[in-house]
Amino acid sequence: MMTMTETTLTPALRATFGDRLQENVRLAPYTSARIGGPADYLIEVRSAGELAAAAQSLWDAGAPFWVLGGGSNVLVSDRGVRGVVLLNRAKAVTFNSGELPSVYAESGVVFSNLANRAAAQGFGGLEWAATIPGTVGGAVYGNAGAYGGDMAHDLVHADVLVQGAGRQQWPVEKMGYGYRTSALKRGDQRVIVLGALIRLQNSTAEIARGKIEQFTARRKSSQPPGASMGSMFKNPPGDFAGRLIEAAGLKGTRIGHAEISSAHGNFFLNTGETSSEDIRALIRLAQQTVAEKFGVNLELEVELIGAWND
Ligand code: EPU
Repeated sequence: MMTMTETTLTPALRATFGDRLQENVRLAPYTSARIGGPADYLIEVRSAGELAAAAQSLWDAGAPFWVLGGGSNVLVSDRGVRGVVLLNRAKAVTFNSGELPSVYAESGVVFSNLANRAAAQGFGGLEWAATIPGTVGGAVYGNAGAYGGDMAHDLVHADVLVQGAGRQQWPVEKMGYGYRTSALKRGDQRVIVLGALIRLQNSTAEIARGKIEQFTARRKSSQPPGASMGSMFKNPPGDFAGRLIEAAGLKGTRIGHAEISSAHGNFFLNTGETSSEDIRALIRLAQQTVAEKFGVNLELEVELIGAWND
């Protein structure tokens, strides 16, 4: 069955994107949780220029769209996404050496790969990012962080496309960063991340690789492997979502094939053919139980994407 969006938009999108326009594409394979129904349309972009051009034409056409990077911090609904998904595969990287080294990465670069490449070239400062799933664009958008590092600390500026205002360079001060949030995530304006200039430090490959090994070992000892969205909730002030969920007795709880990890309470796993509704039911259960027992409201870090029943 064709949706409203499909019937009205197909000719205009076909005229602009030709064969690059894919229709009715299941999103689960493009997410780290391996969950999610179909997008009406999917267009893969291979450079920041292509991303900017595609976003601009979709704005001009009045077509709803959403940019998907690593799909690691999102829960996509079983009913999928009405409109267009731009799959961001813009991957150019330029290292700048010297006294104040830095790296420029397009937003579709896998962040952990960037951290490993920086280390291999003898740059430090970005070791924390080696354990972060997802892309540079997602990290800029959500102020990703781990082991004392975060984007707010290391970003110099982001290249962005602002709806109605074109391409701009936003220094870190303009990003409105807070713990796991930004002006972009709050939706103050419609802004697409095209690339980021990230500060590095001069180090050696041996030292940088050593730090990455330590962080990776720490992550392996505390966080479960398998299909998940990373941390489900933000840590509430002065406490930890994982600790609260454990204290509420919820570790190991299952609904359908969705499971609260018995290794870490803030990780919700897809153990098989899990539906997004099963994950949502677990989210509600954790929020209700933690609120009742401890009076703490757990706020989602993961974003819910697509069409939902409520
Ligand atoms: N804890 C429990 N029970 C659990 C899980 C954790 O008691 O089931 C306790 C731990 O013992 C520890 C505390 O809670 O005392 C914090 O746990 P952990 O060190 O695992 O870190 P976290 O706060 O759960 C945060 C980030 C992670 C990041 C790690 C390492 C958030 C929401 N999560 O996790 O980021 O990798 O620190 O820096 O801030 C992500 O954002 O997706 C993510 C994985």
